[in-house]
Amino acid sequence: MSKNNNIIIFDTTLRDGEQSPGCSLNLEEKLRMARQLVRLKVDVIEAGFPEASPGDFRAVQEIAKQIKGPIICGLARANKKNIKHCDEALAPAKKKRIHTFISSSDIHLKYQLKKTRAQVLKQAITAVSYARSLCSDVEFSAMDASRSDPKYLLELYQAVIDAGALTINIPDTVGYSLSNEFYKLVYFLNENLKKTDKVSISVHCHNDLGLAVANSLASIQAGATQVECTVNGIGERAGNCSLEEVVMGIYVRKDLFPYQTKIDKKQIYRSSRLLSALTGIDVQPNKPIVGENAFAHEAGIHQDGVLKNKTTYEIIRPQVVGVPSNKLVLGKHSGRHALQDRLRKLGYQLGHEELRVVFSSFKRLSDVKKKVFDDDLIALVDSHITHDQRYVLDSIQVVSGNFAVPAATISLAFDGSIKKESAVGDGPVDAAFQAIKKLTGFKGRLTHFSVRSITGGTDAQGGVFVAIEKDGKVMRATSSHTDIIVASAEAFITAINKFEHYHFKDKPEQIKGC
Ligand code: KIV
Ligand code: ZN
Repeated sequence: MSKNNNIIIFDTTLRDGEQSPGCSLNLEEKLRMARQLVRLKVDVIEAGFPEASPGDFRAVQEIAKQIKGPIICGLARANKKNIKHCDEALAPAKKKRIHTFISSSDIHLKYQLKKTRAQVLKQAITAVSYARSLCSDVEFSAMDASRSDPKYLLELYQAVIDAGALTINIPDTVGYSLSNEFYKLVYFLNENLKKTDKVSISVHCHNDLGLAVANSLASIQAGATQVECTVNGIGERAGNCSLEEVVMGIYVRKDLFPYQTKIDKKQIYRSSRLLSALTGIDVQPNKPIVGENAFAHEAGIHQDGVLKNKTTYEIIRPQVVGVPSNKLVLGKHSGRHALQDRLRKLGYQLGHEELRVVFSSFKRLSDVKKKVFDDDLIALVDSHITHDQRYVLDSIQVVSGNFAVPAATISLAFDGSIKKESAVGDGPVDAAFQAIKKLTGFKGRLTHFSVRSITGGTDAQGGVFVAIEKDGKVMRATSSHTDIIVASAEAFITAINKFEHYHFKDKPEQIKGC
C-alpha cells in the first residue's frame, strides 16, 4: 500500500497514445493537451520518446519548458545514447523523469533482441545506473513483462532497483494477461522485491482483450501504486488503460479501493473532448464515463427508476466528471461577461484576444441557433482558438442539388485585401475546397473529412474535422457552424493556416545524432 494511499496517475496520452494510428499531434496540439493534463491534475506526463524523431525531441523539450506542475517524463531505450538524448530533452523541466525500458520475455529476447537473459540483465543495470547519474527520478519497464518468466522478472527488477530505479513498471505490452493472472504477477513481485518505500510499483496495461482497466484495478489491489493510462484509452492497437475509467473505478468503488487519486474529476469530460477535437477521433457512444450515451437512460424501466431516485440506475452523477448539463445556458442576449463566466465554469481561461474571437463566433451562432448549450461552447472554443490566421473566410456561396453542377464562390481576406475565386467539384464541400485551394495555392491533399452533430435538432451545429497532408506533414483542424458547408470551409482554411504557421515559423531544428 502506498504511504499516503495515493495512486499516482501517469498519463501517457502524449507518448503511447500519440504513437497510435491517426492520433499523432503537432507541437502546438501537444502543448494544448499537456496544459489540459495539468488542469486534470495528473501526477506524471509522459511527453514523448525523444529518440523517435526530431519532432518528438522538440515536443518533449517544449513541454518540459512550458508545462509546470506534473513530473515530465521521457521514454528512452536502455542504451546510453537514448538516455542521454532523453535527458537533454527533459533538461528544462522542474521535475523530470527518465523512463527506460528493455524487453524481458523469451519471445522478445529470441526473435527481436537476439540476446540472452544475462545480456539483458546487464544492459538494464548499466542503463538504469547511467540514467540515475543524470536524473534522480528513474523508471524502468520490462517490456512484455506479463509473458516473461516471473523468476527472471524478479531478478531483473531487483537488479534495477539496486541500481537506483525508483519506479518499477510492469507492462502487459500485448494485452494478453487475464486479471487474476496479472494480479498474481504484481502481488508476487511486490511481495518479493527488496525495496524501500521510495520505490513504486507501476502497471501499464494494453487493451487487446478489453481488460486494460480491469487489470490495472486488479494490480492496485495487488500492491501497485502507479497506473499508466491515456485519455479516452487511446494507444497502440486496441489502446491503453483508459484514464477516466480507472480513476472512476477507484472513486466509485471506494469500498474496495481505500485509495484516492489527485485527478480533478470535473476536468475528465473536457480532457476527453479536447483530445477528440485534436485527433479528430470521436469516442464511441457507449464508451464508459465519456461516451455520449454513458449517462443516457433509454429503457422505460430505467427512466422510471431514475426519475424516482437517481441511485436506482446511476452509479456516477454526470456532473462529477464535468459532463455539461444540456440545459439552455446562453442565448442571443447574453453578453461577453456571461460567456466568459460560463467558459470559466467549463474550465476555459481565455485571454483577451481569444475571448474576442470566441465572442464574435458565439454572437453569430446565437443569431441562428436559439439555444446555445455547453457542448456548443466547447466546440466553439476548440475550433476557434488557433494561431496566426493568415487566411480568414470572408464569404462563401455554394450551389448544389440533384441536377446542378456543384459550385462554390469563396472570398478570403489575406495579405491586406479580399480575394475571390470560384470552382466546381464533386459536391458543394469539394467545390468549396477547390476554390480555397485556388486562393491559397495549397497543393496538398485532404486525407480525412468527417462531420458530426454537436447537439440535437435541425438547428444543431455541425462539427467538422479535416486532416490535410503535404510533403508527409499532416495538419488537422476542426470547426463548427450551423451550416456544415461553412464549417467545412472554415476547418479546411484553419488547417491550411496551421500549415503556413508550422511550415514557415516552427520548423523543428535537426537534432544531432538522430
Ligand atoms: O507497452 C509497453 O510495454 C510500453 C513500454 C515502453 C512501457 O509502452
Ligand atoms: Zn505501451
